[in-house]
Amino acid sequence: MNENTDFIKKGEKIFAIVAAAGQGSRMKSDRNKQFLELDGVLVLARTLTKFENSNLIDGIIIISNNMETDAVMDICKKYSISKLIGIALGGDTRQESVRNSLNYLSDYLTDSKNSFPNLTDTHDYRKSEIEQTDIYVLIHDGARPFVKENVIKRCVEGAREHLACGAGVPLKDTIKKVDLDGRIIETPNRETLWAIQTPQAFLFSLIKDCHNKAFEEGLMFTDDTGIVEHYGKSVYMVMGDYSNIKITTPEDMKFGEAILKDEKIQ
Ligand code: CTP
Ligand code: MG
Repeated sequence: MNENTDFIKKGEKIFAIVAAAGQGSRMKSDRNKQFLELDGVLVLARTLTKFENSNLIDGIIIISNNMETDAVMDICKKYSISKLIGIALGGDTRQESVRNSLNYLSDYLTDSKNSFPNLTDTHDYRKSEIEQTDIYVLIHDGARPFVKENVIKRCVEGAREHLACGAGVPLKDTIKKVDLDGRIIETPNRETLWAIQTPQAFLFSLIKDCHNKAFEEGLMFTDDTGIVEHYGKSVYMVMGDYSNIKITTPEDMKFGEAILKDEKIQ
């Protein structure tokens, strides 16, 4: 847990935003997939523990549905999630959920009563010449409980260097573009193709402004890096992990059990 001691920088704060407000419709379960157990521990509890145990992370915001905030608080108590800053309410889409959480964090940072009173998120997208605290956010899917510390670290590194990055892995399968009749119309060069995961990490002011702009312009994107790309800022890929899967469909629960077994052996 202390392996990153040299890596922590003064004059910066790093927050994890854990998105857990989805419906989990593809899981076809009677509840939000993040409240399913993997080897006796809820998926969301596993995810939160990863950020709680990372000494790179200063605070955690969880995005939850109104109906599930009590259950989320129960998890935080049971697993001693001491870094919890608060719960932001989810929206109808993941994009809306994340935007809510960024504005929640912004309000939190400008509230002088909180425990980080000297922070500001109003600076430009560059490291300022004047002494100022840089704020970064790692946005992560609550349904990715296998995120490892080294991936968190690479995301922090990527955000510091490039202001916007996402964890991802090179594709193993060849990808085909197919038309509505099922006819293959293109085989993109696999060498250049990666699958994006989370965490995706950003300078806070950059991602917050991009999300709010997208909202004003009524634009929808499938992930957070896509929003920043749209507004012309370079976003970089950092190496994720093939076991950093998103629990999405019922078979992913079996893959999850296998990953846990493998972690126990290592
Ligand atoms: N999420 C969210 N708010 C939403 C939609 C999704 O916070 N309105 C979160 C989910 O809880 C999940 C993550 O974003 O951890 C990734 O989304 P996805 O895997 O698509 O989860 P769901 O939307 O819940 O699942 P499905 O699409 O199968 O309904
Ligand atoms: Mg979804």
